[in-house]
Amino acid sequence: MNAVFVAEMTGNESPMENMTLYMAPLKGFTDYLFRNTFADYFGGFDLAVAPFISTRTDSKIKRKYVKDVWPERNTRLPVIPQILSKSARDFTVLANYLFELGYETVNWNLGCPYPMVANKKRGSGMLPHTDRIHHFLDHVIPRINGSLSIKIRLGWETADDSFRLVPILNQYPLTELIIHPRTGLQRYDGETDLDAFAQCLALSTHPVVYNGDIRTAEIFNQLSLRFQDVSRWMIGRWCLADPFLPHNIKTGKDDIRDKIERMKRFHAALHEQYCTVLDGPGHVLNKMKGLWKFFSLPFSDCNKALKKIKKATRPDQYLHLVNRFFDTQAKLR
Ligand SMILES: Cc1cc2nc3c(=O)[nH]c(=O)nc-3n(C[C@H](O)[C@H](O)[C@H](O)COP(=O)(O)O)c2cc1C
Repeated sequence: MNAVFVAEMTGNESPMENMTLYMAPLKGFTDYLFRNTFADYFGGFDLAVAPFISTRTDSKIKRKYVKDVWPERNTRLPVIPQILSKSARDFTVLANYLFELGYETVNWNLGCPYPMVANKKRGSGMLPHTDRIHHFLDHVIPRINGSLSIKIRLGWETADDSFRLVPILNQYPLTELIIHPRTGLQRYDGETDLDAFAQCLALSTHPVVYNGDIRTAEIFNQLSLRFQDVSRWMIGRWCLADPFLPHNIKTGKDDIRDKIERMKRFHAALHEQYCTVLDGPGHVLNKMKGLWKFFSLPFSDCNKALKKIKKATRPDQYLHLVNRFFDTQAKLR
């Protein structure tokens, strides 16, 4: 816990008082330990959508299956659990289990682009099948004991999917629609299509959350100028690359001193927690090394240090190398 950091950072009057900033779900990255530690050290987010939980076909949900969203593990940042499924029946079982835990809203993932998921008409692979989504919601909505939000992309291959889908979604009582303006085929690369996002926004009667490539406060400012009706914004990869970004956007100020020191302490706190919960040093190293895919992005000339870090074979050696990097080599671009 590092409430001091956050108290210092949230003391300012926010020029963006009416906006809500969401941490995006990143499977493998933004688990409960990451979400809590991020909230303690950097702040800025109002809530998080948790990485997806796949449904089970046997109708038996064990508590362990949803451990990332146990309420007692999510005390630092409000969370919306997310479900990945193409089966309305299985979805209903899992959603109702999550509502019993105390959640008011669950999110349905219609955005995942990975072939293993999409080829089975799940995630963004379901987007061309408007009729299936229609039937799914007809089954689910009357049977769930809480509310639903949906996260979509523009479509699988083209934005026509969402232009067809959004008017259908208007018929259902959703809390919000999160839109990542890429197609499934694009995965996470290539341009976002802001014109298509504008069309979806105009079509939707639900509150819309914008998500995609908010890399800097300047980019956020441009987007918020263009989409003045949007007050909900979601940031994924770029809060790992620049953890000060949410605070910066919220307050309109890039005023944090000792950025590198704070990143170092955040990293050490995360490392310590993974050491206590993960099963063995190999898992800790894999988890921590994986984070550097995004953690390394704000630093110039860090390839050599990163290579050494990736070669570490023990968590204590790894932590030593990372701390040395932060103390003596790290230079923000
Ligand atoms: C490694 C990784 C894992 C992701 N996992 C999920 C997920 O579990 N659920 C989801 O809806 N989106 C997931 N996404 C998509 C992100 O939530 C977000 O929509 C996407 O990264 C675009 O936003 P960004 O440009 O701010 O990162 C994932 C993306 C990445 C790169």
